[in-house]
Amino acid sequence: MKTNKLIFGFFISILLTTYSCKNVSNLSVNAPNQNIKLNLILSPQGKLGYQVFYKDSKVIDTSYLGFTFANALPLSDNFKILKTSQITVDNTWQMPWGEQDTVRNHYSELTVNLQETKAPNRLLNIVFRVFDDGLGFRYEFPKQDNFSEVQILDEETEFKLMSNYKVWWIPGDWDSYEHLYNTTDFSKINAISKRNHPNLNASFIPQNAVNTPVTMKTDKGVYLSFHEAALIDYAGMTLKIDTLNNSMKSALVSSEVNGYAVKRSLPFTSPWRTIQIADKPGDLIESKLILNLNEPNKIGDVSWFKPMKYVGIWWEMHLGKSTWDYESTQDMNTFIGDKNKKGHHGATTANAKYYIDFAAKNNIHGLLVEGWNTGWSHWIGFDDREGVFDFVTPYPDYDLKEVVRYGKEKGVELIMHHETSAAPRTYDQQMDTAYALIKSLDLHAIKSGYVGRIIPKGEHHHGQWMVNRYNNAVIKAAQYQIAIDTHEPIKDTGLRRTYPNWVAREGLRGQEFNAWSAEGGNPPEHLTIVPFTRMLSGPIDFTPGIFNIKLKPYKPNNQVKTTIAKQLALYVVIYSPIQMAADLPEYYEGNPAFQFIKDVGVDWQKTKVLNGEIGDFITIVRQERQTGNWFLGSITDENQRDEVIKLNFLEPNTKFLATIYEDGKDADWFKNPTSINIRKETVDSNSQLNLHLAPSGGVAISFIKQ
Ligand code: NOJ
Ligand code: CA
Repeated sequence: MKTNKLIFGFFISILLTTYSCKNVSNLSVNAPNQNIKLNLILSPQGKLGYQVFYKDSKVIDTSYLGFTFANALPLSDNFKILKTSQITVDNTWQMPWGEQDTVRNHYSELTVNLQETKAPNRLLNIVFRVFDDGLGFRYEFPKQDNFSEVQILDEETEFKLMSNYKVWWIPGDWDSYEHLYNTTDFSKINAISKRNHPNLNASFIPQNAVNTPVTMKTDKGVYLSFHEAALIDYAGMTLKIDTLNNSMKSALVSSEVNGYAVKRSLPFTSPWRTIQIADKPGDLIESKLILNLNEPNKIGDVSWFKPMKYVGIWWEMHLGKSTWDYESTQDMNTFIGDKNKKGHHGATTANAKYYIDFAAKNNIHGLLVEGWNTGWSHWIGFDDREGVFDFVTPYPDYDLKEVVRYGKEKGVELIMHHETSAAPRTYDQQMDTAYALIKSLDLHAIKSGYVGRIIPKGEHHHGQWMVNRYNNAVIKAAQYQIAIDTHEPIKDTGLRRTYPNWVAREGLRGQEFNAWSAEGGNPPEHLTIVPFTRMLSGPIDFTPGIFNIKLKPYKPNNQVKTTIAKQLALYVVIYSPIQMAADLPEYYEGNPAFQFIKDVGVDWQKTKVLNGEIGDFITIVRQERQTGNWFLGSITDENQRDEVIKLNFLEPNTKFLATIYEDGKDADWFKNPTSINIRKETVDSNSQLNLHLAPSGGVAISFIKQ
């Protein structure tokens, strides 16, 4: 792995004269390639606003900015502009692991220094950065007299659309992102109707708002996605929907304990509010805008973290084959005791060795073991979870040291599991001891979980109090050389650039819903929406690779609603530096399709989105670091599809052996999901492939250099 070094290219500064002005009608800032233009507006009431143009047509109408506070007057009008300044920045940096090797960070920045014309004459700066692929802006509260601490009720940050855009959205839930995506016109967004989901035991949707990233298509066919970057010591932002005015306004996740959303001492800066803009939806995925708005790496070399595939004592609990708790009384469906289940504890030394043997044979270097530690008989469904989970004490049938030793001997490293059950104060107390144990075992990864309502009541997964807990866990883990994969997380806002030990998150409706959800699993279109929405925020621990699609004999009434070839394609379509081979080893053994999971890379030199329409289909190719081999994943929704793929992404004059894993002629996610055809062809950059995708099918291809 490369060390994380920053390569500064050049840094041009085209400083405009700073000047005092009242009339800002001419003040604008353009993207380096001039395609995006942001106009600054100062209304007669002294409100500061902005408009956005893309290729000369307006995509965001006049939208105003500001704040309301619990401890002070609102800060949103009577502004005068004290000063403005512009610079252009152009540099590149390297990803220690990622979708690509090198990222260019090129933008024009406009800083506007404001002051209230009336008492209390407070100061506020707003910084806009305009890139070729979108823009970000943030608030800076400078140090000033008589204004030292804010209790923010909400931001007045507005995004006013030009018309009734088409939107892919999940509700603005303050605790969970595990909702199915809805595709509606903006005027039809109704988040309230998504309350009380039977499988979301922590979920709170207080108003008609959406979560971010929220992606849209304008009537002119331009794609927009709204999100935030660098969410640090602040509340997550949802966007309140005003269907009559085509307008969205920030609705920060609040705390019922405190009665406000954010408390900060001055000086401080808010997270960036971002708008990605593209002609093609795939360009949203290739954009690195969110990462560019984050600070460079603060933790130094992370070569101790190796991108990897992993197996786990995990899916068997979701299927109900085994249990997390040693007493073996709980299952994932009911969470109530079933005495007949006794003797089905999943995390035993013998079972861990079974998975290690399987991984070692198959080029898989990680093993997750859930249910290894005491506390599991009293987690979900109990209100008094404080002090229950223990992150250092294994159950008696699990010899932690022996599992670690055996794994190391075979080249398989254990990923520790810390289910906090949303009792973060208990976790905080044990964190140092737990992380020290992991370091002493020479391990480098944790999967953490925050299932359930947050204790104390009144705090939410996405509020400032929890944002700090998630972030602090990652910062502390870095000191112990530990990487984190957070489940039930705060959304990703690109912090992996600053803390590259934050390697993945859940934060969406993952594979697990296929085993037990009330609607009978994720619909065929789900994964054709996720890359254009959730995946814009960062790596996803989706846990692909279920081969026993019909889940028999464990869950005869559920199934995974894809073909097996689509499961393979997900290793390329969904990005994460840790990718699970989620099914039980017995369903992989002897299946030739498993070869793709063995071969597929997890760390990439280049990524290209070859085609895609949100909710319909997508094809991504990625080139592996070190080997230079390419991998392709293409998936479709419920509709079958034929596509012609040009291989001009391959280096010229080089032969590759393509192994094509495609849906069989009779494949269909419901009628025949395991029908797969595997063929080989020698190809080069002049070749093209004709591919057929079955209903909810896919294609996965490895291109190995000859
Ligand atoms: C929910 C997580 O998403 C899942 O992966 C895990 O198995 C359970 N919580 C138990 O921690
Ligand atoms: Ca989950």
